[in-house]
Amino acid sequence: MTLFNVYPLYDIEPVKAQGSYLWDKNGQQYLDLYGGHAVISIGHTHPYYVRKLTQQLKNIGFYSNSVKIPSQDELADKLGKLSGLKDYFLFLVNSGAEANENALKLASFYNGRKKIIAFSKGFHGRTSAAVAVTDNPSIKAPINFADHVQILPFNDVEAVKKAVDNETCAVIVEGIQGVGGINVATDEFMRAIRKACDKTGAIFIHDSVQCGYGRSGKFFSFQHSGVKPDIITTAKGMGNGFPIGGVLIAPKFEAKHGMLGTTFGGNHLACTAANAVLDIIKKEKLIQNAANIGDYFFENLKGLAGIKELRGQGLMIGIEFEKPVGPIRNAMLFEHKIFTGVAGTHTMRLLPSLAMTIKEADIFLDALKKVLAQ
Ligand SMILES: Cc1ncc(COP(=O)(O)O)c(C=O)c1O
Repeated sequence: MTLFNVYPLYDIEPVKAQGSYLWDKNGQQYLDLYGGHAVISIGHTHPYYVRKLTQQLKNIGFYSNSVKIPSQDELADKLGKLSGLKDYFLFLVNSGAEANENALKLASFYNGRKKIIAFSKGFHGRTSAAVAVTDNPSIKAPINFADHVQILPFNDVEAVKKAVDNETCAVIVEGIQGVGGINVATDEFMRAIRKACDKTGAIFIHDSVQCGYGRSGKFFSFQHSGVKPDIITTAKGMGNGFPIGGVLIAPKFEAKHGMLGTTFGGNHLACTAANAVLDIIKKEKLIQNAANIGDYFFENLKGLAGIKELRGQGLMIGIEFEKPVGPIRNAMLFEHKIFTGVAGTHTMRLLPSLAMTIKEADIFLDALKKVLAQ
């Protein structure tokens, strides 16, 4: 058997990682400003995280959701306190797509409706309901195209006011679009969604899979706009690489046995990883660090020749170049040994660990200046 070849790969094989660094099998060191798609939140192989997971693995690694798993309650309590959403419920899953799939299903169970509003350049995952609300026909199979989905222009307040009506089940939006190119939702747009949902009984779903968990400099990016969604989905940074996702559910929803379910969601190891991540985020004040280092990046990138636009919040940064980004990223990786991400043809995506230091930011900035001057 061989692998189903769906991923274009770099000829690099990391065998070790620590903090913001990776090492390949030849001992070559790389600075990581991508975190494997925004997943590495507290830094690679944090000693506390490794210790907690090792201990848990020795005790019990898995049992299903038919028994008591106290680390799930611990996680709900910690997440409620740290995010400021103490009165929300938590449903645990394994990935971002699964979180959105359950969020959409829950919204539809709640109000009995099926029309969903989503936005241009939005990305919500590759499972059926999630991909149906994703604005990218190239990743939809014929069974994924759905009549009940309407895609509106992102940040268009008037379009929201017009489209959300008494038949709308839910509005799903990323507070900062990741795959779409680091586009930040305006406060006005977020408030318009909240208002339209309140008026019509539609459910406001905030996809925080990429922009959540402290990355924007607040726990959730919608907290910059002062709104409260009805359902919030999260994954990526939640387990620092251990697969886990979550659906945060407002108090107005009522759970029924059998309504939602999963085999692996909320297992012992996943909860241990997620609890360790929250402990470190709190102890090391990583949300504040993300805000500070993010500001440092913006101050130092502003005005650099070759940059057309800077977008983002905290450590979710999009650098749109005047020229195609491909050769710039290749030079950063192969000449300067720095991993970065991409969106579209001209935008570099930075999604480093929330523990990134000024010194590491400077290494990136010096390298980028050299590449742009070439
Ligand atoms: C905003 C957003 N939602 C959902 C997903 C899907 O997450 P996963 O790949 O864990 O299914 C992603 C992944 O990139 C994402 O960026």
